[in-house]
Amino acid sequence: MTQTTASLESLFRLDGEVALVTGAGAGIGRAIALMLAQAGASIVAADRDAETAAQTVSLIEAAGGQGLAVVADVSLAADCNKMIDETIARFGRLDVLVNNAGIYPPFPRLPEVDWDLFDRTLDINVKAVLRCTIEAARRMSSGGRIVNMSSMESIRPSGPSASHYNITKGAVNAMTRAAAVDLASLGIRVNAVLPGFIMTEGTSAIPEAALEQFANRAPSNRVGKPEDIAAATLFLASKASDYVNGHCLLVDGGTTIVGG
Ligand SMILES: NC(=O)c1ccc[n+]([C@@H]2O[C@H](COP(=O)([O-])OP(=O)(O)OC[C@H]3O[C@@H](n4cnc5c(N)ncnc54)[C@H](O)[C@@H]3O)[C@@H](O)[C@H]2O)c1
Repeated sequence: MTQTTASLESLFRLDGEVALVTGAGAGIGRAIALMLAQAGASIVAADRDAETAAQTVSLIEAAGGQGLAVVADVSLAADCNKMIDETIARFGRLDVLVNNAGIYPPFPRLPEVDWDLFDRTLDINVKAVLRCTIEAARRMSSGGRIVNMSSMESIRPSGPSASHYNITKGAVNAMTRAAAVDLASLGIRVNAVLPGFIMTEGTSAIPEAALEQFANRAPSNRVGKPEDIAAATLFLASKASDYVNGHCLLVDGGTTIVGG
């Protein structure tokens, strides 16, 4: 019995491994960084905001873990390379990449369009994910894992004025499947998490009434917490998901299945 418990636990452990989390200075990214650290990984917390990245590392170290804060704007090729170089320089390896950094600015409702805003969103939500995936895959050993942050909005839009964002997250799903196929020969698994509505710094401006609506729509009857997404990410980053590849995992309290 004791032996079973120990091996179950070890399925989710990342001891001796190194995980790079983008957008780790806030919200979902910070929760992922903290949970992967709790599972034993050394963490590289990358964010374009130096102060919040450093705060994430302080939290990891206060809990007894190891971390390195890296200032990087993932939409810049040079920063993406620097982030991976600094990971290897400090920890000597890279086992897990979490492509979490993303933006969701308010968009005009179609048929209006703001092309500059769309290009910027594509740069961060799509091109940066592809670039970081490629650069990480070149430096990872066999057994590496990549987890991309998509959105339930890629499956079923929850309202108007989000088309541009939803398009980028649909691309992340397609990229996840394509990369899983292409990187299989290197022994690298690629999966995605599709969060429902999660309370974070990025969504904090949403009015109370809208929050209540989101909560009521979810069969789980609440809005999501960053830790809900961190737990799913840990699963996809760990041995527990060894036979899961190219999968887009909805973590939305059931919102997508019921609609409304
Ligand atoms: N919160 C939700 O309801 C929700 C739902 C579905 C999907 N998501 C996705 O989850 C991810 C995280 O969302 P969140 O709510 O935690 O966001 P957030 O705005 O609370 O935090 C995002 C973090 O990413 C950083 N960041 C943004 N652009 C960056 C860049 N170019 N380079 C480096 N760092 C950058 C920010 O500084 C910030 O620390 C995003 O990809 C988002 O699309 C969120």
